[in-house]
Amino acid sequence: MTYAHANAEYLRPVLRDAHGRVIRDLRISITDRCNFRCTYCMPESSVTWKAVEALLTTDEIVTLAQIFVALGIEKLRVTGGEALLRDDVVTLVERLARLPGITDLALTTNGYRFETYAAALAAAGLRRITISLDSLRDDTFHRLTRVRGLARVLRAIELAHRYRLTPVRVNCVLMRGINDNEIEAFADFARAWDVSLRFIEYMPLDGPGEWRRELVVPGREVYARIQARHPLTPVAGQSPSETARRYRFADGAPGEIGIIAPVTEPFCGACSRLRLTADGKLRTCLFSVVEYDLRDALRAGAGRQELAARIIAAVAKKEAGHRINEPDFILPSRTMSCIGG
Ligand code: 5AD
Ligand code: SF4
Repeated sequence: MTYAHANAEYLRPVLRDAHGRVIRDLRISITDRCNFRCTYCMPESSVTWKAVEALLTTDEIVTLAQIFVALGIEKLRVTGGEALLRDDVVTLVERLARLPGITDLALTTNGYRFETYAAALAAAGLRRITISLDSLRDDTFHRLTRVRGLARVLRAIELAHRYRLTPVRVNCVLMRGINDNEIEAFADFARAWDVSLRFIEYMPLDGPGEWRRELVVPGREVYARIQARHPLTPVAGQSPSETARRYRFADGAPGEIGIIAPVTEPFCGACSRLRLTADGKLRTCLFSVVEYDLRDALRAGAGRQELAARIIAAVAKKEAGHRINEPDFILPSRTMSCIGG
């Protein structure tokens, strides 16, 4: 661990990897369970969940989060599986929100159960929310998620505004021939609903899955099509570690467009992220083929120093980037629902 800004009033610790990247973001998956079966993420049937005892408890998550924050993590995102399937999610958010040193706390959800939790999550200190929404059409929504839930997800977006979990982000994974005919409709939706609509390239994260390069809708195509309908202007002051390139509407309409193009325009060079899986493994990349245990060490009584040393050692080995475009690319052994988005 080194210290940045040696002359600054506050000495913020810094986690730095071997490629010189500063690690500021941690995504915490709190469950591998999900009530949707998005085709790009999970098989339809024969999904097996981890035993409840395998998952980190709220206390364990908070203890690990404290260690990460002491090492320099500033931004936390709670994710899943579907994070709102864990009924201690509100307590967890409340405790994470209280950690000194956290500048941002967000949650990713499919929105289906959001109505139950919206008020409590906002009161618990959640700052922002990302809701997945891959189609604005009932039939396509069903085909993609295998659940009839469009109305509930739209309601979740409304509630996110009501509780000021803003700017409200909406994630849309595009798949050729399935929902790429809705790009313009989604751009209209971003304006009408004042959301940051983030189009994500389909990544090979669906386990043995169906991913094929032909199914990826390149970010530059998304940009060109939206630009033709509603001229876009890049948002000023974007951080290079953000996954999305963000644009506002040149005519001043509300809403925003984000383009996340990990396949055709990898942004690994500026990656500041780590991931903690629901069963307490640290992953230094979405596409890691190795993971580092923290849960068993914690349960065996390892102290903060030792856990911190494990994190630092793992970070030192963070991959330069994913290898989706290399001939010897190896699929990660876990699907996105286990890794956490
Ligand atoms: N490709 C791209 N994005 C994915 N997500 C899940 N699986 C994939 C995939 N194969 C994203 C979804 C969700 C977030 C949690 O992860 O958009 O919003
Ligand atoms: Fe970071 Fe890995 Fe994603 Fe690249 S693929 S941005 S290194 S998590």
